[in-house]
Amino acid sequence: MFNDQSSPLTALSTRRSGKPRDLGGPGPSEAELAAILALAARTPDHGKLAPWRFVTVAADRREALATLLADALSAEKPEASALDLAAARQFAHQAPALVVVLSSPRPDSHIPLFEQELSAGAATMNLLHAAHAHGYAGGWLTGWPAYSERVRDAFGQAPERIAGFVFLGTPSRPLDERPRPDMGTLVSAW
Ligand SMILES: Cc1cc2nc3c(=O)[nH]c(=O)nc-3n(C[C@H](O)[C@H](O)[C@H](O)COP(=O)(O)O)c2cc1C
Repeated sequence: MFNDQSSPLTALSTRRSGKPRDLGGPGPSEAELAAILALAARTPDHGKLAPWRFVTVAADRREALATLLADALSAEKPEASALDLAAARQFAHQAPALVVVLSSPRPDSHIPLFEQELSAGAATMNLLHAAHAHGYAGGWLTGWPAYSERVRDAFGQAPERIAGFVFLGTPSRPLDERPRPDMGTLVSAW
C-alpha cells in the first residue's frame, strides 16, 4: 500500500503515531513487513554491530503472547486485578501487525553501551518511518511488559532488552496531530 507519503518531505512531516488499540486492517502483508524491516535496518550504528533485532508476532501467535503477558503480570504483581489481567491480554491483540524490537548490545564491544542503545532507538524510529512510507500507521509502546524479565526472556536473553512493541495497521479515522515541541526552546546556537 503505497501513497503520497513516498515523497520524503511529505513522509517526514506527516508521520505521527497511531494508538495501537485504534489500528485495524489492512495491515502490512508479509512482503510489505519484510520490506519495512529491511528499511528499518538501514540505521546508523557505530561499529557495524547491528545492536538490535526484530521479532514479528503473527496473528496466530497473539493468543500465546496474551497468555505470556497475563502469566508474567500474575507472577510479578500477585495483587493484579482481573481488570489488569484483561488489559495485559488485550495489549497482545492490538493492531494487525506487531514487531518486538530488541536492543541487542554486545557488552564485549568497545562501542559504549549507550551508543548501542541509541542505535536501537533509531532503528525503532526508522521502522515507524518505513511503515508510514508504506501507508501504515505505527505505535511504539513499552509499558510494564518491556521491563518484565519474563517477557524479555520469551523474546531474547540478557543483556537484550525490549526497546518497544511496535504495532502497525490502519487507523480507523484520520490521526489527530499533537502539540509539537517549541523549536525556540529546543534549538540554540553554541
Ligand atoms: C521508548 C518509547 C516508549 C513509549 N511507550 C509508550 C507507552 O507505553 N504508552 C504510550 O501511550 N505511549 C508510549 N510512547 C509514546 C508513543 O509511542 C508516541 O511517541 C506518542 O504517542 C506520539 O508520537 P508521535 O510523535 O509519533 O505522533 C512511547 C514512546 C517511546 C519513544
